[in-house]
Amino acid sequence: MKIALIYFSQTGNTRRIGEAMAQVFREAGHVTRIVSLKKATPEDAITSDLIGIGTPCFSSQAPTPIKAFLHNLPILDKKPAFVFATSGGAPGRVLYDLTRLLQNKGANVIGGFLARGECHHPAPCLHGRMPDRPNADDFAQAQRFATAVIEHVSAGRSGSVVESRSDAFQPRGGFYDLVALISTDSFLRLMLPEPKADLTRCTQCEWCVHECPMHNITLQPYPVLGDRCIRCYRCLTGCPQQAFEANWRLGNLAILAFYNTTFERWFGDLKPGESIY
Ligand SMILES: Cc1cc2nc3c(=O)[nH]c(=O)nc-3n(C[C@H](O)[C@H](O)[C@H](O)COP(=O)(O)O)c2cc1C
Ligand code: SF4
Ligand code: SF4
Repeated sequence: MKIALIYFSQTGNTRRIGEAMAQVFREAGHVTRIVSLKKATPEDAITSDLIGIGTPCFSSQAPTPIKAFLHNLPILDKKPAFVFATSGGAPGRVLYDLTRLLQNKGANVIGGFLARGECHHPAPCLHGRMPDRPNADDFAQAQRFATAVIEHVSAGRSGSVVESRSDAFQPRGGFYDLVALISTDSFLRLMLPEPKADLTRCTQCEWCVHECPMHNITLQPYPVLGDRCIRCYRCLTGCPQQAFEANWRLGNLAILAFYNTTFERWFGDLKPGESIY
């Protein structure tokens, strides 16, 4: 079988979960490619017998770049597919977003997997949550899920894999689904600070221009942000010169109001005894 895993990943958590799954598929004898969203084309999906789509959770949903990629795919005509994501304690509808867009293209989504991933968001209240995740246990779970997927498809079974999370098929409809609903990109641009480049630090290396998933940065001759920012803060956290900054006084409070330990325990996805720090 030809398998393609297409993933969006900014700090490597989702990529590493995808790689753990790819290892299982290869060991089972399947030709497996794992492709970053930056390089992925619709051909990668069309020419494969099974596709896996992976993403981090942003604002309790799937981020715009991966949604746009799925939205632009051609009809997939019952092609088997699965979805996977990494998140903190409030994944909301991230898996369901991927499932729904794949189903809209006619794909046969058979399951979804979610792991925790350390958060590198620069807001002080979020930075460093879920330390050292995904861990060995997360990778082992990802591989068990991948084994279940490949057995399911190879045996020609119908329905979904037993190991799938139910929220890959049915939104939980709770508080974080509501937060996801109001957290449109334009709302985030209003609520959260825009990254600003410090011209005394910037060496015009162009890293941020190539790394911005929205192609929203141009050098003129220093970085200028356009109006498509999704506040992923990849430019800020990744700039080799640490030339970007943001003022977190209000944004940090706004995030903490929704994404605090109590709410994540009540309405999110934290298991009993699990802590976000
Ligand atoms: C901009 C941004 C927004 C995020 N929003 C959420 C969120 O709403 N809920 C959540 O559980 N985790 C959230 N996270 C945590 C990420 O989903 C998590 O760290 C993920 O593993 C990152 O994946 P990556 O390393 O593949 O980029 C957010 C992280 C960032 C950077
Ligand atoms: S990545 Fe940093 S140093 Fe490079 S162009 Fe962007 S702001 Fe300047
Ligand atoms: S400009 Fe920066 S924060 Fe905005 S989308 Fe691009 S990388 Fe993300």
